[in-house]
Amino acid sequence: MNLAQTSIKSVLVALLLSSAFVPNLSADIKKGQKAYLKQCKKCHGNGTKGAAMKTQDEWEAAFSNENAGFKSWHKDTKGEKYTNSKKFKKYAPHLKDFLYEYGSDSGNVPSCG
Ligand code: HEC
Repeated sequence: MNLAQTSIKSVLVALLLSSAFVPNLSADIKKGQKAYLKQCKKCHGNGTKGAAMKTQDEWEAAFSNENAGFKSWHKDTKGEKYTNSKKFKKYAPHLKDFLYEYGSDSGNVPSCG
């Protein structure tokens, strides 16, 4: 195999590898986006606005330690019941993926909100 063929092959392999990982990643972000629309939108508006409430680091921190930071934002508000619910706990990892992906400093904007 000559040099050109070798590099074409490695490009193809890289493409195959990266596309094999993308579906998983975006599936979680999509799940999170769906959950956002169902669970957060009524209080916080569409997903673009919601995710841009915080930076990526702030989302990361809010969902660490069993979502403690996230819960503290809602303590003693009308959102408290929701953040203590099983539903929130179940979807929190997906919500985090979505919110982190579109955090205010991410440069990303969801295609539909
Ligand atoms: C029942 C209404 C309700 C629901 C559902 C709800 N929230 Fe809230 N949220 C509030 C209220 C009320 C506050 C405190 C006042 C404020 O900052 O708007 C708050 C605060 C926040 C804050 C802090 C805002 C700040 O300025 O620091 C963030 C971020 C947030 N919510 C995101 C979310 C996300 C993401 C979801 C869905 C997973 C969600 N909330 C679900 C009502 C709700």
